[in-house]
Amino acid sequence: MHSLPIFLSLNQREALIVGGGEAATQKLRLLKRTGARITVIAKDPSAEIEAAAVTDEIILLRRHFRLDDIRNQAVIFAATGDDALDAEISRRAQDVGVPVNIVDGPALSSFLMPAIVDRDPVLVAIGTGGSAPILARRVRERLERLLPARLGSLARFIERWKDPVRGRVSDPATRRRVLEQFSEGPIADLVLNGQDRAADEAAAQLLETGTVEGGSVALVGAGPGDPELLTLKALRALSDADIVFYDELVAEPILDRIRRDAERVPVGKRKANHSVPQEGIGRLLVEAAHAGKRVVRLKGGDPFIFGRGGEEVAAVRAAGLPITIIPGISAALGCAASTEIPLTHRDHASALVLATGHGRDGVPFSSAGAPQAGGKTVAIYMGLAQAQRITQELIEAGHATDTPVALIENGTRPDQKVSTGLLADLPRLALQHGSGPTLLIIGSVVRLSRYWGETAEAASLSALAAE
Ligand SMILES: C[S@@+](CC[C@H](N)C(=O)[O-])C[C@H]1O[C@@H](n2cnc3c(N)ncnc32)[C@H](O)[C@@H]1O
Repeated sequence: MHSLPIFLSLNQREALIVGGGEAATQKLRLLKRTGARITVIAKDPSAEIEAAAVTDEIILLRRHFRLDDIRNQAVIFAATGDDALDAEISRRAQDVGVPVNIVDGPALSSFLMPAIVDRDPVLVAIGTGGSAPILARRVRERLERLLPARLGSLARFIERWKDPVRGRVSDPATRRRVLEQFSEGPIADLVLNGQDRAADEAAAQLLETGTVEGGSVALVGAGPGDPELLTLKALRALSDADIVFYDELVAEPILDRIRRDAERVPVGKRKANHSVPQEGIGRLLVEAAHAGKRVVRLKGGDPFIFGRGGEEVAAVRAAGLPITIIPGISAALGCAASTEIPLTHRDHASALVLATGHGRDGVPFSSAGAPQAGGKTVAIYMGLAQAQRITQELIEAGHATDTPVALIENGTRPDQKVSTGLLADLPRLALQHGSGPTLLIIGSVVRLSRYWGETAEAASLSALAAE
C-alpha cells in the first residue's frame, strides 16, 4: 500500500480549482457537497461554473493562474489542459505542502481521487493507486447496486440514538449489542424502507424491554419472470430475508436470488387449486413476523395488480405490524417491452385498461366490465381460459372484429411464446397456448409489434373464412 486512504474535512475551508472545462466542473460538483469555500480560476469557464458564480456559491476569477493563488488553500485541483501550467501548479503546491490533484496526471498529484459511492454521511472510496481507474469504476457500480439508497439515513438514525442508548445502558458490551440491532435487523429495515416513525418506536421499545416485538414484513413484486427485471429494493429484500412466502408465478431464477439459508415456503395458487387460502397466507406472514423474522411475501409481477396484495397488507396491519411494499414490473409492462408493443401511442391509444379475465372468486370477465372500444389498449390478465367469452363481450362492447390482438405466454422468460392475430380469431389463437401465464393485449398498438406481420392478419382472416 503506497497511499493512505483518509477523508479530508473541507467544511468552511478554502479549496481552489484551476481550469474551467468539464473536468474542472466535475470537481466543482464534488467540492460543493463538502461545504468548502471554493475559488475557480478560469479564463473560459463552463456554463455551470458561471451559474455557481452568479448564485455566489463560488468565487470565479476570470484570469490566468498566479503563484500566490495557492496561499491559504486546503486543497487544489488543476485541470487546465496545459501540461506546463499543471506541472507548475503541482510543484508550487507541493513546495508549500498543500495537497494537489492534477486531473489525469497521477505523477504530478500528491493525492489521487478515489471512485466514490456517496450515501452521505456514509462514503465509500475506491482506489487502485492510479493503476486502473476503470476497475475502480466497476467496483463502484457493484457497490452502488449493493448498498441501500437510505444507508445515510441509517447512519443518522444510529447517531441520533447514540446518546439515549448511552443514557440507558451503562455496560459497553451490551451497548454495542443494542447499537448492532440498530444497524442490522428489523429496526434497520424500517429505517432503510423510510418508516422512520416505526423505527423510532421499535428502538424505544428495545431500550425499554430489551427486545423488539415482531420482525418485519415486505410485500415484494418479483416482476414477470426475467430476474434482471427485479428492482434493487426487491433484490435487497430477498438477500436479507429470513423467510420467503412465494407464489406459483415466481420463476425459479428469481427464487435463486433468495438468501441461501432463508426458509422458502410455497403458498402458490394453482388456478382452482389454491394451496394455501388467502386468509391462511395473512396468518402465516403475521406469525413469522411475530417470531421476529424478516418476512418477505414474494408475488409475481406487481403485488397491487391482480395480486391480492391489498388483502395481505390489511392482514399485516391488523396485527399492528409495519409493512413495506416493493413494487414490481407487472406482466402488462414486461410483456409489452419484450414484444415491442407500445401500450400507448399518440396515433393509436391514449388510454390503457388493465382487466382481469376473472373477478372475485373466479367470476369471469363480464360484459358489464368490458372496456368501451376506441383509442385504448386493453391488457387482460388471466384471460386465456375465458378467451371465447372475452372476445364476444369485447365485440359487444364495440371493439371491431379485426382489432389486433397478441397473446404472450411466459412473457420476458426464455420460453416466451407470442401469437398475434385479429380479435375475432382470439378463441382459436388461445387454443395454441399452454399452461404458462398468458397475457392478452388487444388494440391497434399490437400492429407495431415486431411479432405482427402481414401473416398474422392473413392467417387470422383465412382461419375465420374457413370456419
Ligand atoms: C394472479 S395474476 C398476477 C399478476 C401480477 N400481479 C402482475 O402484476 O403481473 C396472474 C396473471 O398475470 C399474467 N402474467 C403474469 N406473469 C406473466 C408472464 N410472465 N407472461 C404473461 N402473463 C403473465 C397472466 O395473465 C397470469 O394469469
